[in-house]
Amino acid sequence: MTRDTPVDGALAAVNGWLRDAEPELFPFDAALRAIQTTGKHFLPGSLSAVLDRARVVCPDGAAVLRAFLDCALDKKDGRYGYRSYLCLPLLEDLVRPPRPRIAVTELVGLLVADALRYELAADRDGPATLPEERPDAAVRHKRLRYGLRLLNGYAPAGTEDLDVDRLSHADGPDVPELEKALESLAPSVDPVVAQRIELSMQPVYVLHDEYLFLRVLQSYETVFTALVSGTREARDLLRRGHPEGAVAALTGAAEQLDRASLLFSLLATMSIGAFRRFREYTEGSSAIQSEQYKRFECLCGSPREDRRLSPAFDSVPSVAEQAAADPDSITLAYLSARESRACTPRQWAALDAALARLEHSHQHWKATHHSLAARMIGDAPGSGYTVGVPYLDDCLGNRLFWRLGEQYLPMSKEPGQP
Ligand code: HEM
Repeated sequence: MTRDTPVDGALAAVNGWLRDAEPELFPFDAALRAIQTTGKHFLPGSLSAVLDRARVVCPDGAAVLRAFLDCALDKKDGRYGYRSYLCLPLLEDLVRPPRPRIAVTELVGLLVADALRYELAADRDGPATLPEERPDAAVRHKRLRYGLRLLNGYAPAGTEDLDVDRLSHADGPDVPELEKALESLAPSVDPVVAQRIELSMQPVYVLHDEYLFLRVLQSYETVFTALVSGTREARDLLRRGHPEGAVAALTGAAEQLDRASLLFSLLATMSIGAFRRFREYTEGSSAIQSEQYKRFECLCGSPREDRRLSPAFDSVPSVAEQAAADPDSITLAYLSARESRACTPRQWAALDAALARLEHSHQHWKATHHSLAARMIGDAPGSGYTVGVPYLDDCLGNRLFWRLGEQYLPMSKEPGQP
């Protein structure tokens, strides 16, 4: 007798579900297992057809089921891109102001904890990924160590008692203890959040390292949400005459970006060979399409015309439209405060230092991203249809607060600016 494959299991489960089509009873586990076993790029036609039928009967109110199916079927629909690859429709409202379900730092911690759990489970259970592509013990130890250090910085509920130094000592983490610690995180998580995190893992292929890639990108996207909130708050406080509040919001944003930089160290443990292989199927999805990143940039200051008319903003048409409709930014609020002499010399000094700190953090982020990208793709083009690393070379010269560079903020002076 032949054993049922995960795809057979999902076909039977979804076909069975279609009889009553109760959204709460949708067999998410079976569908997800099948997607993770084949990779979204290789979803068999029979499975995408049955998922599509589920989508047709899915009531409008069943937002999670609809988002899950839309993400799963993005390639079949010809809609595949960064948002659907990262399953952002399942994650982003968890941290959306004004009533986020959990804090940004907590979601990042949970995403990282999940990536670590996957690393541990790969050794224990040997999941369906191609085994020759799994990291060796040295890489895995490094990965767990960086992950633990990140968890230390983010502390999702339950990690307060994690003795990171002891668990991640130089000879490699104490795996059984670490497993126990990560296990103990699971029950403390809000079941809605846990389900969203689980459903948001829809790789395009079957290589082990794509799991890490997705979780790191999702973590950064979550951090970008905090940058948008922080910079919007700073602009509004400056407009309302509260420079101290603006300084605090700007400093908070810079801290978020700095704290996240270990995510790049974690991602740098990814195998270049594996990345280049699964990247064959991510074409059309690139973080150049990240709306939050470009929103953050526009809240700092309108980009120069050459950047506004470049692939940077062609890739995020809705942000370009919003920015044209509401061009207000920290830069404009700052210039009008200067014009009306709204702050004392001490307040200006604090504000300038906070702006320079955020500029510096962002420059550092771009430089780290650039060197990782160069190592991973060499001279290949980007998956977002740019020329690749030469595009990123140009981005290094951009500054968030470029309009303030000449007169007020030397840190923000762009190369070539008079
Ligand atoms: C293996 C790792 C990575 C590689 C090889 C890589 C490569 C690239 C490339 C080539 C571009 C240019 C656009 C294009 O795709 O054609 C780009 C843009 C970008 N990447 Fe990455 N990236 C990596 C990781 C990340 C991560 C983890 C993030 C965090 C979200 C990220 C955020 C961005 C952003 C925001 C842009 C747009 C920059 C701009 O338009 O100013 N990248 N990346």
